[in-house]
Order: sequence, then C-alpha cells, then structure tokens
Amino acid sequence: MTYVVTDACIRCKYMDCVEVCPVDCFYEGENMLVINPSECIDCGVCEPECPAEAILPDTESGLEQWMELNAKFSAEWPNITVKKDAPDDADEWKGKDGKFETQFSEAPGEGD
Ligand code: SF4
Ligand code: F3S
Repeated sequence: MTYVVTDACIRCKYMDCVEVCPVDCFYEGENMLVINPSECIDCGVCEPECPAEAILPDTESGLEQWMELNAKFSAEWPNITVKKDAPDDADEWKGKDGKFETQFSEAPGEGD
C-alpha cells in the first residue's frame, strides 16, 4: 500500500504535504507533485493536510491511472522537501474537473 497524488493537485500545488512527510518522498512537476510509491511508508499524515483533497490511499478503487503517473514521474522529477508558495490562482483550480486533460505538464519543477 502507498498513498497517491491524484489530478486534484494539478495547478493547486499547495505543498502543505511536503512539510509533513517524514521520509521526504514527494517529487515536483511544473503543475503538481507526486509520491514515490517505493519510498512512501504509508503513514497517512499527508492526506488530511492537502486543501485540495488530492492525496488518497491506493486501497481506494479507480486510482490506477494516478498510481502509474506517481510511479513514472517520481522517477523523473526532482525531490521537494520544503513548502514553497502555492500558485496565485491555486484556489481557482481547486475542485475543477478535467484538469489532467488540459493542464497536466510533464515538465519537471525546480525541486528544493
Ligand atoms: Fe509521506 Fe506518509 Fe504521505 Fe507517504 S503517507 S507520502 S510517507 S506523509
Ligand atoms: Fe498537491 Fe495537495 Fe500537496 S494540492 S502539492 S497534494 S498539499
């Protein structure tokens, strides 16, 4: 079992999650973060911290697409361990549907 960042994070990227993770297993893309499933220790601490409710346990159904995305991009994007400022328009993207199709970017973020 691991925890998974879903498309709800896209363009919200609040980064409250990175501050609480005891093993620093978040990785930063241009528009979202992902969790490295082999490093996550399933503590669950990050789940309630996300204002966008973007983090879910992989025991929930229907997460296959996001599990694959977390595994793939955590191997490509830089590690992030320190919270930075969320995008200015983060609140406008919170809860919006269809963000993966129109807003997802494979580009890496800057990391720490
Ligand atoms: Fe980090 Fe725990 Fe969240 Fe896994 S469940 S990403 S170890 S805070
Ligand atoms: Fe994304 Fe939520 Fe973290 S919006 S950056 S998973 S706090």
